[in-house]
Order: sequence, then structure tokens, then C-alpha cells
Amino acid sequence: MSQSINLEPVNALDHTAFVGAFASVFEHFPRAAEDAWNERPFASATALHDAMMDVIRKLDTQGQRDFLNLHPLLSGANIRAGTMTADSNAEQKSAGLDAMSNEDEATLDKLNAAYLERHGFPFIICVRHYTREGIFSALERRITRNTQQEMDEALAQIAAITRARLNARLSTLNLMELRRA
Ligand code: GUN
Repeated sequence: MSQSINLEPVNALDHTAFVGAFASVFEHFPRAAEDAWNERPFASATALHDAMMDVIRKLDTQGQRDFLNLHPLLSGANIRAGTMTADSNAEQKSAGLDAMSNEDEATLDKLNAAYLERHGFPFIICVRHYTREGIFSALERRITRNTQQEMDEALAQIAAITRARLNARLSTLNLMELRRA
């Protein structure tokens, strides 16, 4: 699908427009877009995504931890409060986290707290790739792993989350271009 995306309109964007289009791909971290702009032109959506992921990969360990901590907890209460980014809200809803029993909500909150306590950053998973049951079992399994493994896993999950967000932004940009043509 992404092969059909034309990167020419993206490569033509000035810094302000580029950041406006992609700042929200990485949760509360516009710097990924701000710095990636310097790497243009991009041959493909994959190249653009890699440039943004590289900004994260180049952070030192504390910088990566701080970045992970910009992510909200998976939680029914967060969805109801409406305080998360539009993407996070939609992603969490897509896995049915807005329609849990009180018991499941309490279990999720408890598991999230245990994960945060052990690793020092929130449990992050590309929820669109999982069922609600799958999210719970991944969380139980990942609580027990070591923190370095979990940092690697969190970054891999963020790569999947942000690739889906980027593809959505690129599709919108391409549609706008097609309408203009
Ligand atoms: N996976 C997809 N979106 C999110 C999010 O907002 N928070 C966490 N923790 N994981 C996610």
C-alpha cells in the first residue's frame, strides 16, 4: 500500500509545513519530525519513517526513557477523560479498551502499575495489532522481562504504532494532492 504513496508533495514541504503535517506522529514528541526534515528528500514512506525513528534511536538511554514516559497508560479512564491525543484515543478504543467490565479495568490498572513500577516507563503496545485478550497476556508476560528487553520491545512497538500513523497522514496528504490536480 505504502509503495503507491507519492513522496513528492512531502519532499516539497518547508520545515513549518512538514512539522505541521507530521509532528503528532510520535506521541508528544515533535522533535522526531523537526529533525527528520533535514534528511529529505525521502525516497519512500519507509525512508521517512526510518528518519523519524533514527531521531529516537539516537537519544541516549535517559532520553529514550523520557520519550517512553510521554506515552499514556492504556486505560478505560483515560479514554473517558478524553485527555489523550486523538490518535491514542482512537487506538485504545480500537482494541475495545473503552468497553471493559469494571473488573477488567481494575486488572488492567493493576498490571499497568506493576509494569511501570518494574520498568520505569508505561507499557506500550501497538494495540491495533492485538485483541483485548492479547493485550492483557502480553502485559502479564512483559512485566516479568528485564528492562533492557522491554526498552527494545517498546521501541519496536512504537515503530509499528508510528508507521500506521504516518501512513494515515501520508494518505491524507496524497488525497489532498489528487484533489488539487
Ligand atoms: N499503543 C497504541 N497507542 C498507545 C498509547 O497511547 N499508549 C500506550 N501505552 N500504548 C499504545
